Amino acid sequence: MLVRLLYVSQPVGPITTTTTTLILEKSSAHNKKENITGVLCQGSGLWLQVLEGERSQVNLLYARIMADRIHHNVELLSMEEITHRRFGQWSMALVYLSKDDPMVQMAHPEFDPYTASAKDAFFILDELIKTGSPILNT
Ligand SMILES: Cc1cc2nc3c(=O)[nH]c(=O)nc-3n(C[C@H](O)[C@H](O)[C@H](O)COP(=O)(O)O)c2cc1C
Repeated sequence: MLVRLLYVSQPVGPITTTTTTLILEKSSAHNKKENITGVLCQGSGLWLQVLEGERSQVNLLYARIMADRIHHNVELLSMEEITHRRFGQWSMALVYLSKDDPMVQMAHPEFDPYTASAKDAFFILDELIKTGSPILNT
């Protein structure tokens, strides 16, 4: 059974290039093996990540990610059964989420994933992917 999971978290310290590179390296290795795909949005002191795959694999990965001390306030926004992957081509893509991005600011001045509905969070995510040229890590 395929599922799509969305969560938000906050890095404990500043996000450095090394941190991001390490996450993407781990994602590339593990996610390919476990047939997980998704997108990681980063910026404005937040991580917003979508994980898609078999339910058991997604659960295991989410538990590992939750236990990672590099971030906190990990909050599950959505977990839904799906028939098709939306991000099937990416083991993990990186998209920058920034309040300074004029597109984000114009359309969504008060976007806060901790209070937004999952529907709104997915909507923003789609816009970011469309306008934000994701860095692919296939
Ligand atoms: C925001 C965030 C997203 C992450 N995404 C993934 C991921 O998609 N896949 C993955 O394997 N690890 C991911 N990680 C890393 C895991 O938390 C964990 O460090 C890693 O899976 C452990 O790998 P290791 O046992 O090889 O050290 C992420 C970590 C953070 C902070």
